[in-house]
Amino acid sequence: MNNRTFAIIKPDAYKKGASGKIIDRIIEEGFEIMGMKSIVLTKEKAEGFYEIHKDKSFFNELTEFMSSGKCVLLALKRDNAVNKWREVIGSTNPDEADSGTIRKLFGSNTGNNAVHGSDSKENGNIEILYFFSENELFEEN
Ligand code: CMP
Repeated sequence: MNNRTFAIIKPDAYKKGASGKIIDRIIEEGFEIMGMKSIVLTKEKAEGFYEIHKDKSFFNELTEFMSSGKCVLLALKRDNAVNKWREVIGSTNPDEADSGTIRKLFGSNTGNNAVHGSDSKENGNIEILYFFSENELFEEN
């Protein structure tokens, strides 16, 4: 069944000029892009997005990095979207990611790992609506 997931092209991948290649890959893998915007997150917006990690040692490093430059925010739709996107991006640590995955291709380390992907359908919807309003999302299929 079609469902949604949320993706971010993080500042490291954006700065490398990898956004176009990653968007091509998203389309090749059969995702419909329902919404897309390129913004610089404020530190506060990044802190809200990653609130679940607020007690982790890397929280400040993570939110500084995520607000350090442009990101591309993507609301994606596909059959089995959450699992498929996680498969395409690979493990959180690029060193452990399978060859051909986006994090293997474009990530540098666990913090600078090129892309984000939602971990569940529920969180996918919550994350999409953290950045997009429903009237910014368009569905062709
Ligand atoms: P992401 O999928 O965006 O969700 C949470 C992020 O926290 C994760 O990708 C990593 O980039 C980041 N992260 C997880 N563990 C660490 C760590 N040990 N040090 C720095 N960043 C981390």
